Amino acid sequence: MSWVQLPLSAPLNSTTKSDDCTLKAHRSWDKALLSPPDGQTMWTEEHRDWTKVKYDSLEDGTAFPKQFMWGVATASHQIEGGNTNNWSAFEPRSKSKQLSGEACDHWNRRTEDIGLITDLGVSHYRFSIEWSRIVPQEGEWNEQAAQWYSDLVDELLANGIQPMATLHHFTQPIWWEEKGGFEREENLHHWIDFSKRMFALLSDRVRWWCTINEPAVFTTMGYVLGEFPPGVRSFKRAKAVAMNMMRAHATCYQTLKGMENGGLCEIGLVKNINLFDPYRRWNPLHWLQARVLDGMFNRCWINGVRTGRFKPPSALRAKRVPGLKNSSDFIGVNYYTHLLATPFMPTKVEIDPLIRPWEQRTDFRYPMYAEGLRRAFEMVKGLGLPIIVTENGVADDDDDMRPEHIRRHLQITAEAIADGLDVRGFYHWSLMDNFEWAEGYDQRFGLYHVDFETKQRTLKESGATYASIVKSHRTPQVVIMAGGLGTRLGEVTERIPKSLVEVNGKPILSHILDWAQRQGCLNALVLTGHLGEQFDEFTHPGMVVNFHQEPTPLGTGGALWNARSLLEDRFILLWGDDLHPIDYHSLLKTHEKAGAPLTMTATTKHEQMNLKHAEGRLEAYNKTTQTSDLNGYESGTSVVEKSVVLEHGKEGVWSWEETVYPALSGKAAVHLDQTAFWDMGTPERLALLETFLKESTL
Ligand code: GAL
Repeated sequence: MSWVQLPLSAPLNSTTKSDDCTLKAHRSWDKALLSPPDGQTMWTEEHRDWTKVKYDSLEDGTAFPKQFMWGVATASHQIEGGNTNNWSAFEPRSKSKQLSGEACDHWNRRTEDIGLITDLGVSHYRFSIEWSRIVPQEGEWNEQAAQWYSDLVDELLANGIQPMATLHHFTQPIWWEEKGGFEREENLHHWIDFSKRMFALLSDRVRWWCTINEPAVFTTMGYVLGEFPPGVRSFKRAKAVAMNMMRAHATCYQTLKGMENGGLCEIGLVKNINLFDPYRRWNPLHWLQARVLDGMFNRCWINGVRTGRFKPPSALRAKRVPGLKNSSDFIGVNYYTHLLATPFMPTKVEIDPLIRPWEQRTDFRYPMYAEGLRRAFEMVKGLGLPIIVTENGVADDDDDMRPEHIRRHLQITAEAIADGLDVRGFYHWSLMDNFEWAEGYDQRFGLYHVDFETKQRTLKESGATYASIVKSHRTPQVVIMAGGLGTRLGEVTERIPKSLVEVNGKPILSHILDWAQRQGCLNALVLTGHLGEQFDEFTHPGMVVNFHQEPTPLGTGGALWNARSLLEDRFILLWGDDLHPIDYHSLLKTHEKAGAPLTMTATTKHEQMNLKHAEGRLEAYNKTTQTSDLNGYESGTSVVEKSVVLEHGKEGVWSWEETVYPALSGKAAVHLDQTAFWDMGTPERLALLETFLKESTL
């Protein structure tokens, strides 16, 4: 669910003609006279002519910063199947009367579904933890269920995907619902305990945490419109629930921040921003209605987090909520649409909401209105927090709107970033079609189609669209060769693997990963061998780093072949004893343009030469003899298509450069870059690297 109409008045006939006397389509930032409740910005309703918008930068990978978080989102009850909670109990009474039942059967298809996420090429995945599975009865703790989530996290990380966990996404155990759920403040400690235990279990691996998903939607749908459990229509009870949700969020945030890893994790509230615009812009009553709804649905919650004082919708006074002020490290924004307000708004979802004449209706009947995402960002900007789009997507059964929906919303996000707004990431709702609450299975939001009979998942065109935009922006996995013996370094490498030798205060590997991370890389695979066990405790905050140890020395080629199942389709190959701080983006551009199976970096500033290149292609590689026709030296970083490994690889010991480079003569591309590389092959070179790092501003 993502929109709401409050029962303030009688239903309006959906055929009412839209009156557009002051609002023009294609006009930018139409300034209105009335300022919104926070009095900071003018209330505007931008509409643009999307046929004129060019999406070049989305396609060529220049629209978003290198470290942008590319994600997809789901929620436990909507995909897992087999849940017993407040929702499963309510479903027979819901609008659609459909039962969630097996849902997508994700509980039994976790690995397959992680494959779907990996195939999209995204770097982040938002999921929720089903409290009712873990604490099915008061006082119980289901270790196996908790372990399932721990395994999910491990599997995500092993696939280079950063998890984001939500602690409350609309569902709760029946025993807790029976105690009155969020209606009673004395119940909150149960959810806090659950959150603490899950945080203790996962926070060594999960950096991103959402406390509560959409408290305004939960409150309004459950206690005002009666479309969510418990199906109540009471402003009085809604007021108590709203207040306690904010208390719960604040306590959860403060408690988790105080725990081990709390300081390393980013914990935030997820707020659905539903815009309300006056239907007729000349009518003060429409303005008033829009303003009231905006205040109740959006502003009072945001102001609560900003000031620490919360005035629940329909309450007369704001109350101080302990710990609420600044209780978020980021603000999650779920954005779906805007609604046009009149004093006569329908209270039934069956009646189509009003839309502007040029707008397109989604299957949920509300319009696609991407321009509003910018307004949602502006609305939360005053919190001074990084913004993450924790959900955005569309119900679109035949997938004919979704590709454009994705492009428009990403375009708006990219423009906001270019204008200086701190938007860090975008999670598409949803990974796959799923159980859409009161709508049951009738509203399909997925990038993958799910056949709910067979449970088969199929990528939609929109999934391919999203994947291709993500791919054009993401820095591929870096694969680091760290298995060498390092004999030239002498004694030290008898005790420590070369990549863990410290230079300027930390292992060379950390310096290499720092650089890769600055180049937007979030995923590294380190191939170890000699003394490989010593990497066990190694981590690099903000990056997924996986290790793969060769059983016996296999040489550079053998090590890659041995790790082939862990390689991404395209990867950046680096040496574990070599710092080569080059711009990955231009290297990747050369690779893309050349359409080569492999692109190596070469410099001409080196005392020896080991390759011959012409017109951007490798003509010959010769590591052993210095002939006069050589005109470049391979300087370390290269881009490799996995197909090269599969084609030229074999079991046993073999050298990557001596096998693959000659074989790819005439085919491999050469990227000329004069940036110095710093290896630590000998004690002298190690000392030079130390000096370089001390003096550099890298
Ligand atoms: C949000 C909700 C999601 C999903 C989505 C689509 O409000 O958090 O669970 O249902 O709407 O309507």
